[in-house]
Amino acid sequence: MVTISAIKADIGGYPGHHSVHPDLIKVAEKILSAAKKSKVLKDFIVLACGDDLQLIMTHEHGVDNKEVHSLAWKAFTEGTKIAKKLKLYGAGQDLLSDAFSGNVRGMGPGIAEMEIEERKSEPIVVFMADKTESGAWNFPLYKIFADPFNIAGLVVSPNVTKGFKFEVYDLHEKKSVILETPTEMYSLLALIGASERYVVKRVYTKNNVVGAVTSTESLSLIAGKYVGKDDPVMIVRGQHDFPALGEVIEPFAFPFLVKGWMRGSHHGPFMPTSFEHAKPSRFDGPPRVTAAGFQLADGMLVGPVDLFDDPSYNLARQKANEIANYLMQMGPFEPHRLGISEMEYTTIPAILEKLKTRFKKMK
Ligand code: 13P
Ligand code: 13P
Ligand code: MG
Ligand code: MG
Repeated sequence: MVTISAIKADIGGYPGHHSVHPDLIKVAEKILSAAKKSKVLKDFIVLACGDDLQLIMTHEHGVDNKEVHSLAWKAFTEGTKIAKKLKLYGAGQDLLSDAFSGNVRGMGPGIAEMEIEERKSEPIVVFMADKTESGAWNFPLYKIFADPFNIAGLVVSPNVTKGFKFEVYDLHEKKSVILETPTEMYSLLALIGASERYVVKRVYTKNNVVGAVTSTESLSLIAGKYVGKDDPVMIVRGQHDFPALGEVIEPFAFPFLVKGWMRGSHHGPFMPTSFEHAKPSRFDGPPRVTAAGFQLADGMLVGPVDLFDDPSYNLARQKANEIANYLMQMGPFEPHRLGISEMEYTTIPAILEKLKTRFKKMK
């Protein structure tokens, strides 16, 4: 068995919330490289998406492993020291607690981990996002595993015609439910269409083999206030019993709307870009998504291939820019700005507090 752990955090932006400073990548590489030498990790790669530092690691210790999580925590805390020295913006932003006790869950970083039996050939894609919330993976996961107009395999491949199982988290009630497709497709959509509350955590084959896992950590629900967006990560397995690689990345050819963008308070188009262009500048956006493709070989990460560095995604990027132009003209008006219930986690309560004494009874 091999475990793939993708653990990410924003530990400081450069400049503002734009990107990750190269020194933070260097220090994380140094720490993970020592762990590879001492055989804690099989392999790793450090990447960045916007201002979020991404640790992609393989090992044989299973999910939620203390040694691996401590390593991630060390990379983030050592990086934060440098971020503070460079006075990067929001240094240590996503490290919401300093009482680390062996697991980074609930501490601020986003975590997606899967333990798998490596197949004869094991293609995987690690998706990374900036300026959006964890529910941003709901729409593409539905398309990848359940929409026959996207996953042609549902129609033409006997390996996948049975459909899949979706494990959905209710982030507000802290409950989870498993729904099967195609039989329970409409109930699934009823939930995951509300992506701020219901998020897909994992997708399994009908034989319970995991095919996808997402980070579902919600910074605002952990902190009880706005501290930045979740900027989630997701791992998807491809081919054979799973969607083909091209089916895994096809949903992103449509720049659907996600929540996040400026101050985490606006709807914006999800723009697929190369690693190099995953640097949200305009109005701190638009929200970005990158895709790192790998072949696993005895736990080694063969890759990454920068999957959205492809002219076939040019139209999606152009469309995203058109949508951004259109939405920007609405300024602070909904639905460009998020709905008022979602703004409760941002600065709206402080504004209401300031106006409190000036509100009079309506006549
Ligand atoms: P190849 O014939 O190139 O292996 O492709 C098969 C496939 O599944 C493409 O989606
Ligand atoms: P991040 O969540 O990427 O730090 O962005 C926060 C923000 O306020 C952008 O305007
Ligand atoms: Mg930031
Ligand atoms: Mg970010």
